[in-house]
Amino acid sequence: MQTEIRAGSYSEIICDILGFPIFEDESAGSPSLRKLDQVTRGFLRTALATGEFKAELHRTFLCHAPRGIKAGRLLLIGAGKESEFTPAKLREVAGTLVRRGRTANCRSAALWVRGDIDPSITVRICIEGALYGNYESDIYKTRDREGSDVEKFTTIVGRGIAARDFRDAVSQGRLIGEATNFVRTLANEPSNVLTPSEFALRASEAGSSAGLEVEVLEREEMQKLGMNALLAVARGSDEPPKLVVLRIEKQGKSAKKNSPFYALVGKGVTFDSGGISIKPAERMEDMKADMAGGAAVLGAMLVLARLQPTVRVVGLIPAVENLPSGRAARPGDIVRSYQGKTVEIINTDAEGRLILADALAYARRLGATRLVDIATLTGSCVVALGHINAGMMGTDRETIERLRRNCSITGEKLWELPLDDEYRKAIRSEIADIKNVGSRWGGAITAAKFLQEFTEETPWVHLDIAGVDLDHEGRAFAAKGATGFGVRTLVQLFM
Ligand code: BES
Ligand code: MN
Ligand code: ZN
Repeated sequence: MQTEIRAGSYSEIICDILGFPIFEDESAGSPSLRKLDQVTRGFLRTALATGEFKAELHRTFLCHAPRGIKAGRLLLIGAGKESEFTPAKLREVAGTLVRRGRTANCRSAALWVRGDIDPSITVRICIEGALYGNYESDIYKTRDREGSDVEKFTTIVGRGIAARDFRDAVSQGRLIGEATNFVRTLANEPSNVLTPSEFALRASEAGSSAGLEVEVLEREEMQKLGMNALLAVARGSDEPPKLVVLRIEKQGKSAKKNSPFYALVGKGVTFDSGGISIKPAERMEDMKADMAGGAAVLGAMLVLARLQPTVRVVGLIPAVENLPSGRAARPGDIVRSYQGKTVEIINTDAEGRLILADALAYARRLGATRLVDIATLTGSCVVALGHINAGMMGTDRETIERLRRNCSITGEKLWELPLDDEYRKAIRSEIADIKNVGSRWGGAITAAKFLQEFTEETPWVHLDIAGVDLDHEGRAFAAKGATGFGVRTLVQLFM
């Protein structure tokens, strides 16, 4: 999709569909809408008065060949209450326009931007939303594909603003939007295609063209290092495990001494059958996306390689497949983790924490002073927070607060769960240092307590994205399937 910035008025732009956001609490006669109502000779007033259009967020109303403007179609887009408008909502408005444009076979779409948001943030966000909305998860359909791509998206920024002032905003929007869609494609890939090897290969290819140094640790190296928690998960599968390490080229030299060194660690289970503690068949197919956290780390690192943040950052993706077989780990097995603690594997379906334990410990060994992990870790988190918020836990207050504040920009909602010491009791083992599951209760928290053991004193944040990595319904601004959750959250941390 081509993107363009235009200064000027919405009435002059030539395109197939023009999006015009309307806030809930305004009327056709209000100062900022009067002009649109006049040029369209009362179209807006009629649409509102008849109740055919309500300006609730994501609602739309389409008019063909509107009078007084040059666009082929006018799309009124509900933007909710103006006082509650955020960059996150603007992104969804832009996405809604493009998706509606797709179903109407429009080639070009333009958005008239409204709301009191800094213009360069506006431009970046609109492009992110437009790219997000233009994505379709139908690469395996050989027929009956839905809608057609919008080829050109224009953000109209109003008079008196120079379009060239937005060069950085445009490239940021494109980078983030494209990386998010790349991540969605990875998570949508079936597990017969996206094995750990294929995941590592795609990371290498995308990484090297973005300016990342990609190192892939093979099974033999992990054996030498003693990453037995990770290796125990991989044992049941014929697919070899990979530990992908992503570094930003030359960053080590330019970074300041004493500045923080972040490690982003993402769970990369390309299929989670549960292993010997096998899952029920119902919705097991969703477990092809159990690498969504790892993909989000890859997507974020692709963007950061170009943004060149001033603080150091490294990405780690432990990639494995969790299957039962004659070589699989059994309940009751005890392994010595890379960090040294012994782990009693009570349930082979609690595999994410095992691979993350070794990856987090390895991140510390690489010198990281701040850890952020992202993982489709527990069904418990979905029970607690549904499909709206991801769970956030950790020991790094500063990063947790920053992540929370950024939600109104990223649109990726995070809700903090507690991490009291008392929860640790649930994962005490009779026979080893720790066991990999507690009881049913507080499962998202006890999973985090398990991870905490391997972060030691290093400030750490854990994001449990089990409920938000997939969207089976689809949204006004988004196709069904993988959401790419986490890319924007991780990138925004460094902006
Ligand atoms: N990948 C799953 C968690 C999951 C569940 C993600 C539903 C997305 C949707 C994870 O590996 C898992 O199986 N967790 C178990 C842990 C249990 C055995 C302690 C769970 O949540 O049931
Ligand atoms: Mn599992
Ligand atoms: Zn899993």
